[in-house]
Amino acid sequence: MAIKKPEYILAIDQGTTGTRAIVFNHNARRVTSVAIPMTPVIPRTGWLEQRPLDIWHATQTAVADALINAGIRGDEIKALGIANQRETTIIWHRQTGQPIYNAISWSSTQSQDIAQSIADDAEKTELIRQKTGLPVSAYFSATKIRWILDNVPGAQAAAENGDLVFGTVDTWLTWQLTDGAVHATDATNAARTMLYNIHTQEWDDELLEIFNIPLSMLPEVHNSSEVIGRTSPMSFFGGQVPIASVIGDQNASMVGQLALEKGMVKNTYGAGAFMIMNTGNEPVMSNNRLVTTIAYKIDDQPVYALEGSIFSAGTAIQWLHDRLGMIETQLDAWSLAEESDNHNEIYVIPAFNGLGAPYWDPNARGTVFGMTRGTSKADFVKATLQSIAYQTADILSTMKKDSGYELATMKADGSVSRNPYLMQFQSDIAHVDIERSLDEDATPLGAAFLAGIAVGYWQDLSDLQHYVQAGRQFKPNLAEEQRQHLRQGWRNAIKATRFFGE
Ligand code: G3P
Repeated sequence: MAIKKPEYILAIDQGTTGTRAIVFNHNARRVTSVAIPMTPVIPRTGWLEQRPLDIWHATQTAVADALINAGIRGDEIKALGIANQRETTIIWHRQTGQPIYNAISWSSTQSQDIAQSIADDAEKTELIRQKTGLPVSAYFSATKIRWILDNVPGAQAAAENGDLVFGTVDTWLTWQLTDGAVHATDATNAARTMLYNIHTQEWDDELLEIFNIPLSMLPEVHNSSEVIGRTSPMSFFGGQVPIASVIGDQNASMVGQLALEKGMVKNTYGAGAFMIMNTGNEPVMSNNRLVTTIAYKIDDQPVYALEGSIFSAGTAIQWLHDRLGMIETQLDAWSLAEESDNHNEIYVIPAFNGLGAPYWDPNARGTVFGMTRGTSKADFVKATLQSIAYQTADILSTMKKDSGYELATMKADGSVSRNPYLMQFQSDIAHVDIERSLDEDATPLGAAFLAGIAVGYWQDLSDLQHYVQAGRQFKPNLAEEQRQHLRQGWRNAIKATRFFGE
């Protein structure tokens, strides 16, 4: 009798700073994980691009190394799930697969003028908000598509001829993995383009007209858990592996953290920080500039979410290291913060490329308030860490207002969440219990879960409860009066920052 080979799920997590490939076994444990860093292209201050072929090559290398490390063959992979940086925009030729420009990163500001010209029109802004749940911003893909079509000679005409296709990074990778046979995305990625109607679940003609983007460029939209194609036998899998999940990375971590019930909130502290609240089967429109979006879509049923994005979290810590030389490692940020005897009178606002939710101010720039002759490096590092917690607390308060839910607990993950000083200060300043995931990284696990469910490797989302173990908890421990005092100081600092940006 033939011995049955073990089967695994492979997750690809393609982010701003690099690509990872992770192999999971049936107990949802990592068999191996490989990370390939990527160097961005920075043509001008505030712009951030990546070479699409670098993204693809980093993915190929990560996957090949993961299979070799795990000692398994491609045909032992039962299914593949892709979690990707969202909004990042790539346009390529339908026939040749050649990109016509670099990938424009989600955090790049080069389409700011396009966003502003639309934001100046109150009627269009409201229409976009109603249909997509999004405020008009250069963050989302539509203005980036418009920028490429405006700036690459002949691109608009080629797009109108049907010669060009658009995709976020999931679509680009799926196209590559299937040798150009599949041009697809999922609802979570589509919902971040500013072209997708989150109520009707379709690309929207009126929105396409506002941005003058032909429908023929856009990918087919699928569930986040569904087989949308198979890897080409030519590719490195040595077989036809089902691509069984595609989902935005921040949404994947929500699944990986099992924030699956209405009212549950997760925050992923990575380069940026992304807080998402599950609002169930109905979209909740924000009155306070949060994003209404799709958390995930399974069996044609979208689950909606409120989201607040902080543009600089881990990047602020990276800045302490790269530019200011204040820390060598992440660990230094923790020990210096503990060492500081400053009573939290310093506020660092890391608005390197404007401020995200709930302020949405593209013109704000980084500022520091409250320094004295006695301010030390440790104080400065502590205040930078605290800035992440203050921004998060502002989003959490806004979510409470918009949803009417009392939020007692927040789930946390992401590399920056490993800093215990930050987690405790976060719990104190937002007055919330924090459940930090045991695994720093819930994103690939979420993509793996969704892929596994689509091919019957796991039964359904409730099956997953058995596999996710609880991590450390943090509880608030700060007098209310002190908390209010500190938050008022932060609000004043934000106000002054925006004044300087004018
Ligand atoms: O919305 C942007 C977000 O998806 C970026 O993710 O992995 O690049 O931090 P990442």
